[in-house]
Amino acid sequence: MERALGIVRTSIFAAVGIVGCSAPDAGRQTSEVDIETPPTSTATLTTATPREPPKGKGWVKEANGIIHRASEATCSAEIATPACEGNENHMSCKSDSECTEHPHGKCVHQTGAPMRATYCNCDYSCASDADCAKDEVCVCGDTSGQKQSKCAKAACKTDADCPSGTCALSAYFNGCHTALQLACKSDTDACKADADCTGGTHCVFASDGKTESWQCRGMGCVIGRPLVVDDEVQKAPNVERSDWAATEGLEGRYAADPDAADLRAHWLEIAAMEHASIASFARFALELLTLGAPPGLLVKAQAAMADETRHAQLAYSIALEYGGCALGPGKLEAAVAPMDATVYRVAYGLVRDGCIGETFGAVEGRCLAAVAVTPERRDVLDQIAEDELSHAMLAFEALRWMVATFGDDVRAAARDALAQAREDLATMSVSSRAARSEHGVFPASELKAMRLAALETIVEPALSASSSTRASLRCAS
Ligand SMILES: [Fe+2]
Ligand SMILES: [Fe+2]
Repeated sequence: MERALGIVRTSIFAAVGIVGCSAPDAGRQTSEVDIETPPTSTATLTTATPREPPKGKGWVKEANGIIHRASEATCSAEIATPACEGNENHMSCKSDSECTEHPHGKCVHQTGAPMRATYCNCDYSCASDADCAKDEVCVCGDTSGQKQSKCAKAACKTDADCPSGTCALSAYFNGCHTALQLACKSDTDACKADADCTGGTHCVFASDGKTESWQCRGMGCVIGRPLVVDDEVQKAPNVERSDWAATEGLEGRYAADPDAADLRAHWLEIAAMEHASIASFARFALELLTLGAPPGLLVKAQAAMADETRHAQLAYSIALEYGGCALGPGKLEAAVAPMDATVYRVAYGLVRDGCIGETFGAVEGRCLAAVAVTPERRDVLDQIAEDELSHAMLAFEALRWMVATFGDDVRAAARDALAQAREDLATMSVSSRAARSEHGVFPASELKAMRLAALETIVEPALSASSSTRASLRCAS
């Protein structure tokens, strides 16, 4: 165990030197798929010229990249993932007949390539809006660039619903998760298409902390342990309040910066994610209690809640330096969402959010500190990185206890979470344009390179340093 923790600690600090807080291997990125540039060679996706009124049927992709919905469309509900074979390591279903939560359910066989961990899980698709909730539409997989068709939140359903005549698809990858939704375009939007955005950001429909609109957004999810419920990253809305931010006279110091609005929005998102981390650790503590964990882990989980509370306060304070009024978190209803505390689910979340997410947070915090705009900002980021490092170490310590206590389910979950993280990174959007690293916004390509390096040089060796996990990884490969 000490070896595993030692690897995490030394590797995170070495990683800053290894990757130099920049891409370790630029060539690696050339074959990556940009998920926010969906494919065009499909039967349902037609191409129009820019500045013409929206036209066509079904999903239409304009030459400037905007995808909008001219009319309802039928999608393929096929789920290409192979069916469950019945001999997987972990099985939450055995046949399609058990997948009835939504239409088009399939009990799929999932493989933790390249280590060949296997498990069965229900997956769902859609063929039309009738398969989705009232405020959702079915977004075709070949339109969104996702693996299959999915129901997505929709403020509008077709172009006819919008005064502008354009009901557009937003695919926003925030660094942790891709959010699909439809919303009307308008003349007052901060951006129309990706070409209007700089610094590696994309034109997506998102919240600026008060209202939702089309705006340029990058990846802000670099905070460590996210709050994930039903595979969705959750956070509270930001509301006007002054008890979470304290700038000590520094409010508005960067308000004249040309990117002040974007930087404020970025830090408000970081703040909301840090705030959600408090709930994530609270739920982790309950999971530990449910599984009968030793006191040392519980004490550390509680200490981590205090760390994340401080991180949220710091991030809300930094946001205020870019102007605007003081904001803080509103209600976080997902904090009390039902929990699945089976060993596999707890271990999977622990590796995904703790071993991997917190390690990413620590490395990225270190790299941001190294280029911070002021010594004070550097000190703040260094402290956050140190905390995230201790949270990553807590995750590896908890994983070690779970492997020793529960065995195979934990090993399978660790392999699956690692494989999923690799897959997520493979489809992570990149951009070669410069960002504002000194203010906390890395270029997407740099962020991706850092995460790849962290996964390969820190997380995988640390997992392997656990003798039980290492044996399992070897057997499965
Ligand atoms: Fe944090
Ligand atoms: Fe953390």
